[in-house]
Amino acid sequence: MPDLLLHSLTELREVLLPVVEAVRPRRIVEIGSESGGFTELLLGWAREHGAHLVTIDPAPADYVRQIAQRNAKSHTLVLDKSPGALAGIAPADLYVIDGDHNYYTVFAELESIHRQTGGRAVSILHDVGWPCARRDQYCDPLGLPPEHVHPYDFERGLTLGESGVVVGGFRGNGNWAPALVEGGARNGVLTAIEDFRTKQPGYQLAVVPAVFGVGVLYPDEHVAAGELAASLAPCHENAVLARLEENRLRNYLRVIALQDHIASLESAQKSALAELSSTVRSLEAQRDAQLEGRRGAEARIRELEALLREAEAREGRPLLGRVVDRLRGRG
Ligand SMILES: C[S@@+](CC[C@H](N)C(=O)[O-])C[C@H]1O[C@@H](n2cnc3c(N)ncnc32)[C@H](O)[C@@H]1O
Repeated sequence: MPDLLLHSLTELREVLLPVVEAVRPRRIVEIGSESGGFTELLLGWAREHGAHLVTIDPAPADYVRQIAQRNAKSHTLVLDKSPGALAGIAPADLYVIDGDHNYYTVFAELESIHRQTGGRAVSILHDVGWPCARRDQYCDPLGLPPEHVHPYDFERGLTLGESGVVVGGFRGNGNWAPALVEGGARNGVLTAIEDFRTKQPGYQLAVVPAVFGVGVLYPDEHVAAGELAASLAPCHENAVLARLEENRLRNYLRVIALQDHIASLESAQKSALAELSSTVRSLEAQRDAQLEGRRGAEARIRELEALLREAEAREGRPLLGRVVDRLRGRG
């Protein structure tokens, strides 16, 4: 079954592979691989064109480790975190930035790439749309300098049109935490790109408003700048794509709300069943105790009847007469 929520760069392959084709990189660095769908596409391109792919991810899926092992000539996997890991990796022509989606990390990645490549590389950046455009997301907030981390929350989630956090909503289930507040200075992926462009003029940015938003940042003077601009123009800030994206996000938020509602009904049903079975157990215990008491009383009646019969036999006449008949239900 296809993913309920499309989220991988793989979904944008028809837009992004022409970018790779236009740049014709000798080396590609991918930051953030997850299950390796996009890694595989990049690797396929690299193998076909004699290029080399480096993937940086501290915790990729086993599949990514396997393809790196199988393709050692064309693929290097670096089990480390960006931006720190970038310093130890030779410069590339193309970077795919899709790791930790927060201002500090993305700004530092762009700075490092700019420094290492002399401002000549092209970068594809994921999550330039909602929810990360103007709000940090942290995979490992304790691993970042504390002064660069906004207050965050691993429990609560996000919903469209709400700049705070909400109970429920779109959330990371322990995998990532959003900043408590959207907007303001030094907050979010798109803000990081804008601040980087202010500091380092000379880059163009095309934004594809689909699948959480993808930005392509390329130097004005890049040999493929014209080709990139032409190839991305139909998607750049495309209003139809933006409307479809908002619609799918709203639908997905509704799905999450329904899933949460079902989960709360299931949990209420579980507690009601637990209460019911404890009441049944206690009623059964009461019934058993009453049956036990009744069996004891009947045994005592039989003993007394036997004693009475013995006494009547000794006396040679009925004793207690009608009282006993009444007790025996005959009167
Ligand atoms: C959104 S997923 C990447 C999805 C993938 N690019 C795709 O489109 O299919 C994010 C990945 O980034 C990795 N990650 C998190 N923080 C990172 C960091 N500081 N440096 C590199 N990778 C990181 C996570 O382990 C995760 O596998």
